[in-house]
Amino acid sequence: MLYPPQILLPGPTPVPPSVNLAMQQAMSDHRGSVFTKVKDHVLVQLQELFDVGSDGRVAVIPTSGTGALEAAAQNFFLPGDKVIGVSTGTFGERFVDITEKMGVQVRHIRVGYGKAFDPEYILEVLKEEPNAKAILVTHNETSTGLLNPVVQLANALQFIADPPLLIVDSISGVPSVPLKVVGNHVDVIIAASQKGFMCPPGLGILAVSQRARNQVITDRPGRLFFNLQPYFDGQFPYTPAVSLWYGLEEALHLLAEEGEQPRLARHQLLSRMARAFGEASGMTPPVEEEFASPTVTALAAPKTMNPVEFRKQTARLGLQIAGAMGPWHHDYIRIGHVGAILPEQLFEGLATLAHLLPAGFDGLQAAWVTWHQAITIDEEVHS
Ligand SMILES: Cc1ncc(COP(=O)(O)O)c(C=O)c1O
Repeated sequence: MLYPPQILLPGPTPVPPSVNLAMQQAMSDHRGSVFTKVKDHVLVQLQELFDVGSDGRVAVIPTSGTGALEAAAQNFFLPGDKVIGVSTGTFGERFVDITEKMGVQVRHIRVGYGKAFDPEYILEVLKEEPNAKAILVTHNETSTGLLNPVVQLANALQFIADPPLLIVDSISGVPSVPLKVVGNHVDVIIAASQKGFMCPPGLGILAVSQRARNQVITDRPGRLFFNLQPYFDGQFPYTPAVSLWYGLEEALHLLAEEGEQPRLARHQLLSRMARAFGEASGMTPPVEEEFASPTVTALAAPKTMNPVEFRKQTARLGLQIAGAMGPWHHDYIRIGHVGAILPEQLFEGLATLAHLLPAGFDGLQAAWVTWHQAITIDEEVHS
């Protein structure tokens, strides 16, 4: 194939050329000075990005996002513990499932697909579960393209004496959508390399507050690899994924170069463009605008084609988009715009979709107007 297909997926996401290049560096001793310097540099930058404070820590584990969720459950809970698990889609359900499989008693607040959780309701449930050790939530629910009000929940928990740990799956959120340990009062933020971190899949990242660090279970039987304690001291009892660390170092450099607020604004613009396209082309987005995810947008499948056929046709035209998950599988598709995606690249992808839709060019025009307005506002601000 002359060119790889274009991907507008909510992970894996495009890897910038300089990140790919960084990963081609020669192998070196993972206990030697070259790698140690990279590792220390990456950890310091991640600690800043997640704002873990002087006594919080970040662990980078060679695993996928699911592995990082499992690592969180293993390090903070024992069989018989009680937690509150909130699900707003497939990934919230997965976190609950992992935790239950560990023998933990989960009070499952099942909000359902396409709806955000209500922080007030979670606080009400907490009154009924005074012994809950933690609240598990999803920041950006990738299966539906929905951003939950995690910051509001975290703020509300501040008014409770000795609140449970707030453990957040932000795998498709951070760093495209900022979330901070100290700044937002979150105890554990879980991320993965293949989304906003613009790297290939393979690294799970856990940012942990001082309070959560003090609650890590250090002597759990049957666990070595996922014990977070050595990670907090910058050590690992195995050979790390050296090349991915090189890539992550470069990706962190690119993230710092763009800056947090411009990055969020770019993702929000991508979301508005995808939604404008959907609304004008008959692929109405099912999630309310207030809770629209900046990184992934679900759209109704076209009336003329089922989602599987639609995705086959887009792939034939050189564009990979995602199917919807769980009960949404038969009715929706998802467009990922997380990580290294610019408005012009999204526009190119939407142009491919437009070929397949009776009102596709109305959608394209709506996306263009949304983009153009953002450029005009930006120019006015900077003139
Ligand atoms: C919110 C969320 N949680 C968990 C996962 C699972 O991550 P992985 O596929 O890397 O195991 C994903 C992956 O898309 C996700 O988006």
